[in-house]
Amino acid sequence: MSSTTSTSTKPATFRAAVVTQPGATDAISVLDLPVVAPEPGQVRVAVAAATVNPVDLAVRAGVFHQAGVVHQPEHTGLGWDFAGTVLEAGPGVDLAPGTRVAGLVGGLDRDFGTYAEQLVLPASDVAVVPDGLDLTEAATVPLNALTALQLVEILGDGDGRSLLVTGAAGAVGGYVVPLALERGWRVTGLARAADEEFVRGLGADFTVEQTSGWDVVADAGALQEQAVALVRDGGRFVGVQPSFLPAAERGVSIEVVSIMPDGAAIAGLLERTARGELSARVAEVLPLDRFDDAHAAVAKGGVRGRYVLVP
Ligand SMILES: NC(=O)c1ccc[n+]([C@@H]2O[C@H](COP(=O)([O-])OP(=O)(O)OC[C@H]3O[C@@H](n4cnc5c(N)ncnc54)[C@H](OP(=O)(O)O)[C@@H]3O)[C@@H](O)[C@H]2O)c1
Repeated sequence: MSSTTSTSTKPATFRAAVVTQPGATDAISVLDLPVVAPEPGQVRVAVAAATVNPVDLAVRAGVFHQAGVVHQPEHTGLGWDFAGTVLEAGPGVDLAPGTRVAGLVGGLDRDFGTYAEQLVLPASDVAVVPDGLDLTEAATVPLNALTALQLVEILGDGDGRSLLVTGAAGAVGGYVVPLALERGWRVTGLARAADEEFVRGLGADFTVEQTSGWDVVADAGALQEQAVALVRDGGRFVGVQPSFLPAAERGVSIEVVSIMPDGAAIAGLLERTARGELSARVAEVLPLDRFDDAHAAVAKGGVRGRYVLVP
């Protein structure tokens, strides 16, 4: 599968930041990994921007290794969403070199990720970035907007019922609110006091209090059992932690979103972002080598918008 015998001038290796010692202080190493050619249906991209998401901190901390979800013998890939440009299309893929794309690498148990100079993934998991949308902004859209879209598909139509979105000012919650409003939910966002203007600006009601009695709680803040307790008897809880389901109580149904890559859906979300209907929030852009600084900032909490790493 190695393409190092190619006659092209592409380098034989690329740099990637991966987890080599899960749970250790120096969990992440930058390695030179061999370039591989895309197989049929795949595309090889040059990463221009890789988004830092909370799940990356959990992978680094070894949470999923301990939970038996990740089994990588040597190193574990970091990073889910990215934007960049096509370097090489595999057989059957109609994406010209240089095309601007954004996309998503799904799943936790993998040895590669978006914290890298390049990436090979299914072409069906990427979307062309519309003109006028910067690659740094585009990188922040796939994971969180698609998770929100798929969560709202689980919710279905609201028909005026009450929905509490926890973490409404976060990356996932900030997309769940407008997408649920469009489906007819009466949405209230639970967030920090300083987030009131942002949440109300999305068109939702706002609360900082964990009051109970909601028909449905969409737990984008990952409050888990605390959020289940806010659902009325017999209502619904839709969570965001597929590996850690909270216990059911009082007839409350427990559902969970587990993102599935979907390039066509990402394309729609990017188009909506380019038109200004959905937001792309960038907190700070850092060089890839500063992954520790980005992770430390995210670990502190209170960051709004995403850190983006540039290889
Ligand atoms: N299942 C999936 O497929 C999937 C996909 C993507 C993400 N996720 C998960 O979804 C969760 C949210 O991700 P994210 O990227 O949106 O995180 P995020 O941007 O950090 O958003 C979480 C938000 O919740 C707020 N929050 C936490 N506790 C709160 C409380 N008690 N009251 C009010 N607000 C509170 C945080 O505020 P502060 O920053 O001030 O604490 C933050 O604004 C994470 O657990 C992530 O791993 C799951």
